[in-house]
Amino acid sequence: MKICVLLLAASLGAVMVSGEDDHKTINEKQRSLLMDNFDTDFRPCTTFYNYACYKWSENHKAKRDNYTNVAEMLNYEVNLELMEYFEKTPESNMPGFVKMVKDFFVSCRETAELTILDFMHLLERQENMKWALFTADNSEDFVFDWTAIAARFRKYGFNYLFRSEAKKSPDADKFTMYFKMPNFSSFNYIFHFEMEEYNRTIPLPSGTMNFEELWEIIDTFEDKFREIKVPKETEPTMFKFHELPYPWMQSYLKALLHPQAIDPDMEVGVYNMAYMATLDNFLKPYDAIFLARYIELRFMQIFDKLNQRSYPSKCMTITKNIFPMATEYIYGQMHPELVEEVPKIKQIFENMVRSVNKSLHLDVSGVIPKAFFDKLETMHMKVGNLPQERDAKDLLESYYAQLKLTPSDYYLNNLEIMKFYFKFWQDSKYAVEDDMMFYQNKPNYDYEADIEPTYVASMNLFIYPLGLFRPPVYHADFEDIFKQSSLATLMAVRIFDAFLGVDDDGFPADDVKQIAGVIGLYSSFEAFFSTLTAEEISRYQTMFGFTTLQQLKEMFLLGSVHYKCEWIPASLQHYVDSTVSHLSAFTEVYDCKLNNYVKMF
Ligand SMILES: *[C@@H]1O[C@H](CO)[C@@H](O)[C@H](O)[C@H]1NC(C)=O
Ligand SMILES: *[C@@H]1O[C@H](CO)[C@@H](O)[C@H](O)[C@H]1NC(C)=O
Ligand SMILES: *[C@@H]1O[C@H](CO)[C@@H](O)[C@H](O)[C@H]1NC(C)=O
Ligand SMILES: *[C@@H]1O[C@H](CO)[C@@H](O)[C@H](O)[C@H]1NC(C)=O
Repeated sequence: MKICVLLLAASLGAVMVSGEDDHKTINEKQRSLLMDNFDTDFRPCTTFYNYACYKWSENHKAKRDNYTNVAEMLNYEVNLELMEYFEKTPESNMPGFVKMVKDFFVSCRETAELTILDFMHLLERQENMKWALFTADNSEDFVFDWTAIAARFRKYGFNYLFRSEAKKSPDADKFTMYFKMPNFSSFNYIFHFEMEEYNRTIPLPSGTMNFEELWEIIDTFEDKFREIKVPKETEPTMFKFHELPYPWMQSYLKALLHPQAIDPDMEVGVYNMAYMATLDNFLKPYDAIFLARYIELRFMQIFDKLNQRSYPSKCMTITKNIFPMATEYIYGQMHPELVEEVPKIKQIFENMVRSVNKSLHLDVSGVIPKAFFDKLETMHMKVGNLPQERDAKDLLESYYAQLKLTPSDYYLNNLEIMKFYFKFWQDSKYAVEDDMMFYQNKPNYDYEADIEPTYVASMNLFIYPLGLFRPPVYHADFEDIFKQSSLATLMAVRIFDAFLGVDDDGFPADDVKQIAGVIGLYSSFEAFFSTLTAEEISRYQTMFGFTTLQQLKEMFLLGSVHYKCEWIPASLQHYVDSTVSHLSAFTEVYDCKLNNYVKMF
């Protein structure tokens, strides 16, 4: 897609008119992408995934460093557009917050790489702090206290070790803090090679424990931590601050919040008492010096993530993750044509909710929990992550008004931004999962490089980022068959994201994924072909040079898996192959008689 950024920036709201020719070209291109690229070295009945996707990997080999699957390719293309925008748009045409986002991107590109030691020194200056790692064991003037250190780093997004916390505000002048169990599946264990690297590059003063000695303790410490298993608790136990059962809970909150915000009677919820008791017991044998240093080492792991900026596009990915709303705003300005698409996209979503609902009602065994049907009734979606009911530009201008960045210091900028978000959270009148905090996506250091919908369970809401609405997933000029096979299938499959929350103890996540694949594809396929009229069939046939309805169905099926194409397909191949093998429409289209025969046994 070629766009003139300068022109668009100057005339926002301009509609891009596309003529008949464009329409034809775009649809022909999509037909060719799907129908000229299947790989006949593979048999569709045996491995549909390789049949549909192998050529994609071949064709995109040269871009392997830039992206490895379709979702990342969309991200990459969005990045290129944003980079072009920053390069070509005069700064005088940019709102203040857009200029700031540009400064951040430029700082990411231009700042030379720091060593981890430099980074630690930078933090010392910023925080006016000393590292426990650099402090002798017998120091008189240093308090080794993991809670104080964790609370300090919490400003920089470090909210996942031993405990995490959340804040909820039922009304404007009151809030409640909650302690939660951290997410064990995203625990980044410390590796020996990291410690070896520190050993080589970070000189330690005498009287401190060296990295090799620390590693000896960490290795078993983390192994034991990993083994913690506790029953799930869905309701928090409420305490008054002064009644909190473990001293570290109080000292952590004191270090975290404004001192004046702590009232001895303030309410604090604890989401999993069994976990907290186990944790307290687990930590007891370890001395304060070790725990302080361990927390610091865990925080230092973010440094590697900050440095993932080898190419310009990677810097843009980081920029997008740090400023999700602002970059979405810019992209939206560059694609005014999407505004008109929003109602149509929502329509596709609603149709898919109905169609999935209908497919599920075909089942009479009662396998699907009622809670999931209830979710379907109120499920909704949003195009783009901007709170559209407000004026996005004014909102972002005032939101970011206090944040000043420089184009010349990437690391400092990162610290400033994380602190800014933290301050917003600290002062915020919003509940954490909701509204602003949600839209700005709770920044972390996991820079996601793919464009995918997200599901927000607390709001029963799907967010479809604007970057998803470009070929090969969507184009305003796409014929319905393409919109339906790619976007509608994706939507139908993703509806089952809502399943995971309602039935934690029923189906394992992998089974839900399989159900989602089969029912999602069935639902989009049925919704399209069951209403297709004879005129439309013959119109499509003429347009694409097909002679049979079967070819249309083939193109639909190829389109429906295309978003899943990736380099090194190992993980998805099985999923896709097994999904289609469960569909009678697939067996029929590809004449997989053998599959049917084998199914009887
Ligand atoms: C926990 O972490 C895993 C892996 O990063 C992630 O897939 C999952 O969504 C997380 N769970 C929650 C509740 O955040
Ligand atoms: C690195 O490891 C060696 C060998 O175990 C040790 O003597 C040295 O003190 C370590 N250096 C640091 C900085 O941890
Ligand atoms: C794409 O990857 C190549 C390396 O293969 C790199 O040189 C180039 O800068 C990347 N493109 C962008 C826009 O990051
Ligand atoms: C789901 O199907 C049931 C039974 O046909 C119907 O009553 C309900 O309105 C449907 N809900 C949606 C969201 O389509």
